[in-house]
Amino acid sequence: MLSLSIATLCAGLLAFNSVNGVLALSDGAARLPAMGFNSWIPYGCGVNEDNVFSNAQAIKSTGLQALGYSYVNIDDCYAQSNRNSNGDILEDATRFKSGMKTLTDKIHGLGLKAGIFADAGTLTCQGYPGSFGKETQDAKQLIATWGFDYVKYADCNPPADNTARTNVRGRFENMRNAIAQSSKAVNKKVVLSLVEFGNHSPWQWATDVGHSWRIIETDGPNWGYITSTLNRAAFITQATNFDGRNDLDMLQIGNSGLSIDEQKTHFTAWALTKSPLLIGTDLTKINSDSLNILKNKELIDINQDNQIGTSISPLHWGNKPDWTNDSNNPPQIWSGPTKDGVVFMFINTEDQTKDFSVSITDSAWISNGRKYSVRDLWAHSDAGTTSGQLTAKSVPRHGVAAFLLKDAGNA
Ligand SMILES: *[C@@H]1O[C@H](CO)[C@@H](O)[C@H](O)[C@H]1NC(C)=O
Repeated sequence: MLSLSIATLCAGLLAFNSVNGVLALSDGAARLPAMGFNSWIPYGCGVNEDNVFSNAQAIKSTGLQALGYSYVNIDDCYAQSNRNSNGDILEDATRFKSGMKTLTDKIHGLGLKAGIFADAGTLTCQGYPGSFGKETQDAKQLIATWGFDYVKYADCNPPADNTARTNVRGRFENMRNAIAQSSKAVNKKVVLSLVEFGNHSPWQWATDVGHSWRIIETDGPNWGYITSTLNRAAFITQATNFDGRNDLDMLQIGNSGLSIDEQKTHFTAWALTKSPLLIGTDLTKINSDSLNILKNKELIDINQDNQIGTSISPLHWGNKPDWTNDSNNPPQIWSGPTKDGVVFMFINTEDQTKDFSVSITDSAWISNGRKYSVRDLWAHSDAGTTSGQLTAKSVPRHGVAAFLLKDAGNA
C-alpha cells in the first residue's frame, strides 16, 4: 500500500516536471471553481446559437453575472458529423448558422466567457468527431479560431489501448498540452474540465492536468442523484484544492424533480465542496425561488474563497455508522475551513423533520476553549455565540442548514 502510493506520487511528480510551462491551466482562470451555465440538461442535442445566447443574456439580466457566474458553455452536439477536407471540426451549419466565432464574440461582448465540449476518443459521447490524435488541430480550432475560454473534455469512445498506447491520463495530457500551446499563442487562460468518472479515479492523478474532474455520471434531477453524488464525494474530499477539484456535475436548480429544500441542499453541498457551479437550467424561464438559491452570496463567497481551497469534509453520518458507503445515506454533518471562519453543514437525508446538534470541537478547525459567533448562511442572520454545541432545529426532510463560525474570543 505504502510503496504503491510512493510510486503514484513519483509518477505524478515526473508528469508535473515534464510539462513545465503549461501550468497556466491551473492558475489564473482555473484557480477557483468555474461558475456559469451549461447547455446539456436544458437543450441536449437541440443546442443552438439562439438558446445559448439567450442564456448568456439571462445570466446578465438576472444578476447572476454580478455574483460571479461567467462561463456560458456549449456541450456536445454543436458539430457537423464530418470534419472538412483540412480535418477541421466544423459547427453545425443550421443550428450555428452565424458561426462559432460570431457567437463567442457576442458572449464576450456581454462581459462573459465561452465554453465548448470535446472528447478524447474517436467520437464524442453523441457520435460527433472526437479529438483523439487531432488534439493540436482541435485545440487551435476551439481556442484560437473560435475564441473559446473553456474546454469540457470527455473520454467517450476511447480507442482500444493497443492502438492508443496510452490510457485516459495520456489522452487528457495530450489535450492539456495542446491547449497550453494554443492558449499561449493567443495569450489567454483556458480552463480544462475533465469528464471521467469510471474506474480510472482521476482525483488521484489529475491535479496537473485539469481544473476539475467529474466524480459521477449525470443523473436526475432527483433526490437519489444528490445523495449518491454526496456519498461519492464524502470519501474523496481531500482531492480538492486550488490545483484541481472534484466536479459534482451540473446544478439542477430549478429543474422539476427537486423540491425547494432539496435544491437548497444541492446548492449548499456543491458550493461548500468547492465544486464548479455550472447551472444546467434554462435561465430564461427559471422561477424566482430557484434563482434566489443560485444567488446565495454567502455560499458563493465560500465556494470562491481565494485563500483556502479545501472542501468541507464529513464529520458524522448522523443516521448510520461513520464511513458507511451507501448512496442513499451520505454523511449528514460536514465541516471545513474558510478564510472567514469554520463552516458547518447539516443535511437531513431522512424523510422526517430533524433537529441537529454537534459539538463544534468535533471539527478539526475549531479551537478548544474559544467561543464562536454563529452566522446562518440561509437565514442571512447572526445566531448568537457558542463554545460547545451547534444546533439546527426542525431541518425539513431533505433540507439543509449551514453556519459560518467566527472566533469571538475566550470562552
Ligand atoms: C462504495 O461502494 C461502491 C459500490 O459498491 C464502490 O464502487 C466504491 O468503491 C465504494 N467506495 C468506497 C470509498 O469504498
